[in-house]
This record gives sequence, C-alpha cells and structure tokens, in this order.
Amino acid sequence: MGDSRFRSMLLLVIVVLVPASVHSAVRKYTFNVVSTNTTRLCSSKSVVSINGKVPGPTLYAREGDNVLVRVHNHVPNNITIHWHGVRQLRTGWSDGPAYVTQCPIQSGQSFLYNFTLTGQRGTLLWHAHISWLRATVYGAIVILPKKGVPYPFPKPDGEKVIVLGEWWRADVESVVKQATMTGLPPNISDSHTINGHPGPVAGCPSIFTARAGYSLQVASGKTYLLRIVNAAVNDELFLKIAGHKLTVVETDAAYTKPFTTDTIFLGPGQTTNALLTADQTAGKYTIAVSPFMDTVVPVDNVTAVGFLRYKGIQPFSPPHLTATPPINATAVTAAFASGLRSLNSPNYPAAVPQTVDHSLLFAIGVGVNPCPTCVNGTKTVADINNVSFVLPTVALLQAHYFKLQGIFTDDFPANPPSPYNYTGNPPANLQTTNGTKVYRLGFNETVEVVLQGTSLIAPESHPIHLHGFNFFVVGKGLGNFDKGKDPSSFNLVDPVERNTMSVPTAGWTAIRFRADNPGVWFLHCHLEVHTTWGLKMAFVVENGKGPNESILPPPPDLPQC
Ligand code: C2O
Repeated sequence: MGDSRFRSMLLLVIVVLVPASVHSAVRKYTFNVVSTNTTRLCSSKSVVSINGKVPGPTLYAREGDNVLVRVHNHVPNNITIHWHGVRQLRTGWSDGPAYVTQCPIQSGQSFLYNFTLTGQRGTLLWHAHISWLRATVYGAIVILPKKGVPYPFPKPDGEKVIVLGEWWRADVESVVKQATMTGLPPNISDSHTINGHPGPVAGCPSIFTARAGYSLQVASGKTYLLRIVNAAVNDELFLKIAGHKLTVVETDAAYTKPFTTDTIFLGPGQTTNALLTADQTAGKYTIAVSPFMDTVVPVDNVTAVGFLRYKGIQPFSPPHLTATPPINATAVTAAFASGLRSLNSPNYPAAVPQTVDHSLLFAIGVGVNPCPTCVNGTKTVADINNVSFVLPTVALLQAHYFKLQGIFTDDFPANPPSPYNYTGNPPANLQTTNGTKVYRLGFNETVEVVLQGTSLIAPESHPIHLHGFNFFVVGKGLGNFDKGKDPSSFNLVDPVERNTMSVPTAGWTAIRFRADNPGVWFLHCHLEVHTTWGLKMAFVVENGKGPNESILPPPPDLPQC
C-alpha cells in the first residue's frame, strides 16, 4: 500500500520532469502530385491534384510536432506547396512560394518539406503556390493543442473540417494563359464548393449533382467544432447555416475571444474555428456559401449549397433554407471583422508590438498599363506603391542566402512615391513600374504597415497575406488613412492575430508584427488574380546575433531552377 503510493508519487515526479518536447511527434505525409479525372458541374476534365483528391488530404499534427511532407511531382507542370500560415521559424526553405523561397519541383522530381509547428494551434491550409494550380491543389491543416492541453473553450463532442473552394469548368491554367496573352481579366469561376461539392447548380443534369451536396451529420444537443477554410482562388466568401448560430473561437491558428454570429466571412487564405450546437428541431438545414463583392468587378455569383443533417431524420425531409447576405453586404463583413479579438489570456497573451521601428504605408491597387500586343492596347496590372512585382527566375531566398547579385534590389519604397487622394479620383497617368524589390528588416525589429486601398480602376477589397508571421490588426477605417488622427484609436491590447486580413474597399487596415523570423517573406493579395498582376512584394529579414536567430542551411534536396 505504502509502496504503491510511493510508486505513484515517483510516477508523478517523472511525469512533471519530462520536458514537453518529448511529447512532440514526427508526422510524415506523402503527397503524390497526379493528374486526376473529375466530373463536376456537368463537365469532366482532368486536373492536377494531390493523391487524386480535391480537396487533398488533411494534415493532422499537434503544436510542437515536426511535420515531414514528401512531395513527388508526377505531372508535367512545375509545382510547389505552401503551408499557409505556418510560421516556418528559421525554415523558410519549406515555405513554398515559387521563386520566392524555392525553385519549383520539376516533373519527375521530389522535395521533402520539413517544418515544426511552433506556438500555433487551430486550423490552417496548404495549397500549391505556383501559377493558379491551387485551384485544385489545396487542403486543410489541423493543429491540435499539445497532448494534455485543453482548448480554452468547452470541449466539443466532435470536429468537422469544411474546406471552401472555387471551380472552373475550363482548364484553369488555360484561363490564366489566355488572360496574360490578351491583357484582359481572366474568366471568373463557375461555382464555389464545400469540401469539393458545389451542390445543385442550375442547368446541370442531376446525374452530376444528386450526391454532390456536402452533408454535415450532427446529433441533437451535441456541439461541434467546425474548422472552416477558405481555399478559393479569387473570392471572399460568406458561410451561413440555416437556423444556427456559430461561435468563432479561433482565426488563422490563434485563439480569439468567443464571438457569436450567424454569418462567417472569410477571404481566400483565411481560416476559422467555430462552435456549432445542434440545438434546433431535428431536421435538415441549408449550408450556404456565397461570394462578397462590393464594387463593380464581376464575380462568380453562384451559391454553393450543402446540408446540416440531424441524425435519425427522414432522408428526404425538406430543408430549412437560409437567405445569403447580399453580394455587396459590406456591413456584414465590417461587423464580422469588428467582432474578432485576440483571446489575450494569461496562457495565450497577445504580444502586440507597442513601439514601431519601421512605419510603412503601402498603397495597393489595380490599374492599367500600355501594352501594344494586348487586345485593347492595355493590360491590367496591380501594384504596391506603384511597383508591380516581378518574380525572378532564381528564388529570392537562395539569392539572399548565397548573396547572389542582380536578382533583386532592396529599395522597395516605404511610402507611395507621391501621395495622392488614394480613395478619390485617381490622378491621370499613374503608371506602375516593374521591379523585383524587397524591403529589408533587422532581426526582431517591429513593423507597422498601413495598407491603403486605392481606386485606380475601381476600389476593391483585398485580402492581404503575409508569409512567415502572424500580425495584429491594430486598426482599420474607410477613406484615406490619417497619420495624425487614426493611430489614437488603434487597439494595442487585444487586436485579432492573423496571417491574412481584408483591406476594405476604399479604406485601409493597419497591421503590426515583429520581424523575429529570418528569411525572405512574401506579402501579397490572396486573390490570385491580383497576385498574378503584381500585387506582391517581399521582406528580407536579417539573421539575429543569438544562437537560434539565423536561418537554417538549405536542405540538400532543395530544387534547382
Ligand atoms: Cu496562401 Cu502566398 O499564399
């Protein structure tokens, strides 16, 4: 008896002394990049996929785990995979944007992505990061808390992954090629999808849609954690479930204060975890995914439909319907953004930089430049501070690490070259220049970027994504940012922490981050059409002096250009 008590005490001591790292695991995945035939939206075509599935496999890991993904390229296209939102501390080689951190994996080659999930827990996504291949090459990343660490909210009875996408009947790479040739905007998609299913689409024979709707099975009275990912290419999306409220508890793998809403709003690249309780009369409830566009730009206006089904109901019970928000429901997006706050608890503090070493103003937008070979003599371009970014033919990170000359310049402008009324009538002949320019940051320096929307052709909402960091969204507003007045209303206590956030149409958003991750980090609009046009740039973050403050050496199998 005494002996067994001693033994359990000893056990307790051992458990307490075992360092947390012993509990972390290595998670291995194999991604075969293959060409797959699919039949969706009344047409069949072959697409590039991972392991034959769209969406591809969900990666499961715990905070602290080492993830190894071996990618084998079996298609003619070059490919890279980006682990969107994974911080990649010192492992920029595994970040994935083509010609930014790596040369593409060529046909017949393979590459091992190797990274550790540090200080993040929640849901993220992975996707191809070259051309528009992410239209069919994408999937979810689930990061569970460390073993034995609870969620900071009541434990759900179940968890479901919901990945939203966008589908073209045509071959997406041809759509992009055509647009580049003509200088015209690429064709919009034909539908949105929920876990690959568009749901019933007008004009499609039912053979393609009978089983095409996504089904979310729930049991009465139970609570579910929905891990929602917007993996669409160009569309910001609303998600609603008829008759049910959702409580957001996490965004972009950072915990939030619980926020209850009937509509989720996600830009491409954004993710959220939300709790849903099956507290309504047992039945069948519509899940609706519809686009947001509050300006004159054309957009795919097809609503993807799925169903929330309570267990035990008749298979053919008529669904409860839900009204989707109007396509231009700016107020709904603003209310959703304002509802999000970092959890900022003792266990999960919000480390908002209180002082700023670099104060940057980035004017972002879309315009036209002359193009003699294009259909109208002009082509659509997009820029930050009048620089339309051109990807090099060698990866920027290699150029930085090996000190290769002539690949990039480090004169990316901290401010627009000449200030103007960004959200008013644009000045004539505001032409952009092409360049491969980066902005240099010292290790651990703090940065504030005010992203200022412009209205060169039309003002538009831009979901801006930063690689390698989470940032805090300290402020936002409509019209032009006022340096004298607006900072006084910044939230420096519990602003939401994200890797992607929307700059509102004809407005601005201010973000802050600490440059504690050495490497080369891409910043771009996550509407792929705008990235293609040049709305992108990169930060170079220098190594620090400390032992763990330098980028690791490149892996031996790093692809060559
Ligand atoms: Cu999710 Cu650079 O992208």
